[in-house]
Amino acid sequence: MKAVIITGVAGLLGSRLAKWIIENRPDFQVIGIDNLSGGYEDHIDSRVTFYKADLATDDLDRIFSSHPIEYVYHFSAYAAEGLSPFIRKYNYTNNVVATANVINACITHDVKRIVFTSSMAVYGEGVPPFDEKDLPKPVDPYGIAKYACEMDIQVAGEQHGLDWCIIRPHNVYGAHQNIWDRYRNVLGIWIYQKLNNQPITIYGDGSQKRSFSFIDDCLLPLWNAAEAPQASKQIINLGSKKEYSILDAAGILQQIVGGASISFLDKRHEVHVAYSTHEKSETLLGYKDITDLSTGLTDMWEWAKKQPKRNQFVWPKYELEKGLYNFWK
Ligand SMILES: NC(=O)c1ccc[n+]([C@@H]2O[C@H](COP(=O)([O-])OP(=O)(O)OC[C@H]3O[C@@H](n4cnc5c(N)ncnc54)[C@H](O)[C@@H]3O)[C@@H](O)[C@H]2O)c1
Repeated sequence: MKAVIITGVAGLLGSRLAKWIIENRPDFQVIGIDNLSGGYEDHIDSRVTFYKADLATDDLDRIFSSHPIEYVYHFSAYAAEGLSPFIRKYNYTNNVVATANVINACITHDVKRIVFTSSMAVYGEGVPPFDEKDLPKPVDPYGIAKYACEMDIQVAGEQHGLDWCIIRPHNVYGAHQNIWDRYRNVLGIWIYQKLNNQPITIYGDGSQKRSFSFIDDCLLPLWNAAEAPQASKQIINLGSKKEYSILDAAGILQQIVGGASISFLDKRHEVHVAYSTHEKSETLLGYKDITDLSTGLTDMWEWAKKQPKRNQFVWPKYELEKGLYNFWK
């Protein structure tokens, strides 16, 4: 049987796409790789052939040579954008070095296409809506790492004939998101806080704008990113068409969870207004913006209430303490 590899298979996109492929494309075997640093083994469908491995350090040949791989979804990353300046080395090792290993394996094993999830973070302080044609200008190590990976994949395409599709998702959320990491995923952080009787936190005044994308709406487009001929060698924004201020998003959450007090924290170094164009995702990937924030967040809240109680992840030691925000000390 043909096979597809998903790196980061224990995470939100990886675990959910794995299940989608198993249910919708039974002609493919799903091979998953994850080191479980930011995802959970119980999120991986039992029908996935799972390898616990670290992409930055482990030998990938044994995995790639054991299966007839057609497509590789390279989802693994540590996507803590705001924290990335304080864990620079970790960020580049986990996001860039790991990607170099995956690219090497894709070239060596004649993979038909790699789908790489970059990020809206590559646009930095651009002028929204961010368009794929804009010149990236990331403002933090996470965005720089994603942009470096994008460029390296394109060079591998030119020099070694590796086919690729680069997806720049924005603020994807839903069941299987890591809600136990205090450094990333604002909706997940709020849900964890509510479940643990804490006020929900907002950096600055909450006037920042983001558009939140429900995972279920992204799954068919992600599949098309690998299979559709027109997605070959394309960079495509992916996610919801409607943007919200963080304060408005908090208001929607308050309604769903039956109220929550808000604690305003110091402003962070972050892009203030970030949302993207969506025409390419509609034309090339068949994206449809079906689920509004209130509906998607209700679904995620219902899932979250059934989750085991886990401790929130805290970095034992940052690489850099200078300039670290008080709320992370
Ligand atoms: N969710 C979003 O809002 C969003 C937005 C833009 C881009 N992205 C990108 O999409 C991808 C998937 O995002 P997600 O939300 O599913 O993230 P996630 O954190 O839920 O999943 C990432 C998975 O990668 C694994 N991983 C990390 N480092 C690894 C390593 N060195 N070796 C093996 N496994 C490793 C983690 O254990 C985790 O299970 C990421 O590349 C992320 O940067 C996500």
